Amino acid sequence: MTTTTRRLGRTDLEITPIGLGCLPFGGPGLANRYYATLDQTAATAIVRTALDGGVTWFDTAEMYGRGHSERTLTTALRSLGVGGDDVVIASKWTPWFRTAASIGRTIGDRLEALQGYPLGLHQIHMPHGGFSSIAAQVRAMADLHRQRRIGAVGVSNFSAAQLERAHAVLAGYGIPLASNQVQASLLERRIERDGVLDTARRLGVTLIAMAPLHTGLLTGRFHDDPGQFRDVRRIRRRLAGFSPATLTRTAPLIDELRTLAAAHGATPSQVALAWLTSYYGDTVVAIPGASKPRHAEESAGAMALRLSVAELDRLAAVSAQVTP
Ligand SMILES: NC(=O)c1ccc[n+]([C@@H]2O[C@H](COP(=O)([O-])OP(=O)(O)OC[C@H]3O[C@@H](n4cnc5c(N)ncnc54)[C@H](OP(=O)(O)O)[C@@H]3O)[C@@H](O)[C@H]2O)c1
Repeated sequence: MTTTTRRLGRTDLEITPIGLGCLPFGGPGLANRYYATLDQTAATAIVRTALDGGVTWFDTAEMYGRGHSERTLTTALRSLGVGGDDVVIASKWTPWFRTAASIGRTIGDRLEALQGYPLGLHQIHMPHGGFSSIAAQVRAMADLHRQRRIGAVGVSNFSAAQLERAHAVLAGYGIPLASNQVQASLLERRIERDGVLDTARRLGVTLIAMAPLHTGLLTGRFHDDPGQFRDVRRIRRRLAGFSPATLTRTAPLIDELRTLAAAHGATPSQVALAWLTSYYGDTVVAIPGASKPRHAEESAGAMALRLSVAELDRLAAVSAQVTP
């Protein structure tokens, strides 16, 4: 299947509007406090389904099990016969309690965990928790880029001002800032108010939407069966504000997603992803997670869905009514 790709920021990398989030491949540790870790067989089935659906890139991180997610992803790709030039892998360096020097010191571990697959995009996972300035961290990323050990430099959870700073430091090296990974969905539209969207557009930086289904809420399945809350782990529950009151408040949006889904022969989650990757033009791409192949299939299928301007605006209006 061929899907229209987009340029990642002002880099040479081309990616599909939908990638696959690999947090559930994360093994023991923090990732496992969001989602139950999938074994290799389950992960490989999900990666295969995503590829079959036209997805060409994958988001992982050092923090997802200290190499466990990166290794699980690349083991899957290798067993499926996928070459390093056929996909883009994005990973992240964890700044917590570290200096910028650890970016250079840990790149060997990242590349080892990727088992010969190139690290297309390396991201600073968050702007806080490190002992060095953002400028020093970005300079360390620029060094890796100049050494051709990474394909592009990105950041995550950065504010508009932090984005400007990272962009300016990289510009001094003639390197574009590729991306900023932030929470964005029909239930999280802060990027429109906090300057992140405008800044990204002005600087030519792609925004990678994490938790684009609001960790599953936008599928409507919790509205259908609130009892499913019981299986949701604490960090995820907090991230998405899972509660009976949230279900009541967001019900009109889910109804609208269902109406549009029925009109297009699609699912509510596909409509939510199509909105997110269209409403902001080419600026926003999304990395939905999946715990089953069916999820990956559905998410990839959103790339074929075209919503009209009137439908995009209608969803935006209903979303504005139900989000605080
Ligand atoms: N940079 C950061 O700080 C940061 C933070 C968080 C996440 N991320 C990235 O963002 C990615 C996505 O985030 P996320 O997985 O938390 O949120 P998400 O993509 O909004 O939600 C994924 C979850 O929604 C459910 N789901 C997905 N498709 C479904 C479908 N078609 N039908 C029913 N349920 C469906 C599944 O829940 P069940 O597992 O319960 O079935 C799945 O695990 C992560 O994998 C990671 O790469 C980055």
